[in-house]
Amino acid sequence: MEPRSFPDGFVWGAATASYQIEGAVREDGRGESIWDRFSHTPGRVRNGDTGDVACDHYHRYRDDVALMARLGFNAYRFSVSWSRVLPTGTGAVNQAGLDFYDRLVDELLAHEIAPFVTLYHWDLPQTLEDAGGWPVRATAEAFADYAGIVAARLGSRVRSIATINEPWVVADHGYRTGAHAPGRSDPGAAIAAAHHLLVAHGLGVQAIRAAAPATPAGIVLNLGPQQPASSHPLDLEAACAEHDWLNRWFLDPLVGRAYPEPPWWAAGEARGELRDGDMELIAVPLDFLGVNYYSRNRVRSPLLPPLEPAGDPPERTGMDWEVYPAGLAEVLEFVASRTGALPLYITENGAAYPVDDAEPARDPARVSFLRRHLDAALDALERGVPLRGYFAWSLLDNFEWAQGYGPRFGIIHVDYQTLERRVRDSARFMGAVARSGRLPLDDVVSTAGPPA
Ligand code: FCB
Repeated sequence: MEPRSFPDGFVWGAATASYQIEGAVREDGRGESIWDRFSHTPGRVRNGDTGDVACDHYHRYRDDVALMARLGFNAYRFSVSWSRVLPTGTGAVNQAGLDFYDRLVDELLAHEIAPFVTLYHWDLPQTLEDAGGWPVRATAEAFADYAGIVAARLGSRVRSIATINEPWVVADHGYRTGAHAPGRSDPGAAIAAAHHLLVAHGLGVQAIRAAAPATPAGIVLNLGPQQPASSHPLDLEAACAEHDWLNRWFLDPLVGRAYPEPPWWAAGEARGELRDGDMELIAVPLDFLGVNYYSRNRVRSPLLPPLEPAGDPPERTGMDWEVYPAGLAEVLEFVASRTGALPLYITENGAAYPVDDAEPARDPARVSFLRRHLDAALDALERGVPLRGYFAWSLLDNFEWAQGYGPRFGIIHVDYQTLERRVRDSARFMGAVARSGRLPLDDVVSTAGPPA
């Protein structure tokens, strides 16, 4: 067997998000975000961890960019902190905050790394949450102004701008379960938030196009196969319902379809947030779609008794998520069934594993995880999916939201005492794939070539 190759021009990078890596939460005029408030509220984040320091990327971005360049990546996906740019979400621009991203973009370009910007990776300015948050429409309107400001400043130099990262997680975890900031548990608010996130996307794309007409604009969704735990009709129905909420609730309106049937927990909601013209606004043509993929779910109906585990337990990551590489090709094919020739990117894929303290740079499980998922990406390409790039989650170990600093997703290890970076085998592996465009047949990590 020969190693399989990716198409010429394939985009290779790693992804991060502002609150997870930057730190410097009170510097240069940055305002408070819902994750500052949430992480400083006792009991919300494991171990009381906060993003106050995180990876200190705000001060170390030059070294981090140099490291990516040495590895051989040609792209980097990062997010902009809304409350650095507009400390209270609206009003006067905080130039010092915007300047940081300006410097970051210049640094990336100087290293021939294409910047892929995300405008909203979950860190809503606290002032906007205090005024109602995503369940109110004014937040979507404020987002459009913010999108225009960032696009005007950075648009001509970046490869693409995505509006929202994973709107499902924002609505579901932020407003339904309350596991994420702002920590609300209100089904009606979650459904309204979901709609306003899509309205924000539509208005945001319009604002990006007005400010930077040549910059590709899109959105990033998290998707995963929702498979029935058995062939019982109630399991089939439960799996379909999960599929509708996770995989179709956002994707369908984006491509001009109606919302699916509401989930059971929202069945009685009035949907008062829907306005004439919204569905057309949400379906504004996209230039690309980003897909974040981690795992699948086996869905058991809550009306049936728990299933006794049968056979060998499936392989799982440190997050207890099943390792299911075929699901990557499955979700890409599902998306392409709706988006046709639209360019797709895998904007996140990766895994957390416990660190071997004796050898923190050795991560064979992650190398194997990445290689098998890249193989699935090649399967999708072979089946005609217009996949244009792959971003590993994440460049660095970082603040994993409500789980704090416990789970380590980085292809680069971070020592949280010294903030020192250490290149893991998985980063070398990804760099070798990026430089050659070819996927090795096994998990061997070449120690030849950069970086030392
Ligand atoms: C995704 C998020 C990202 C990170 C990974 C593990 O849902 O977009 O910030 O937390 O999961």
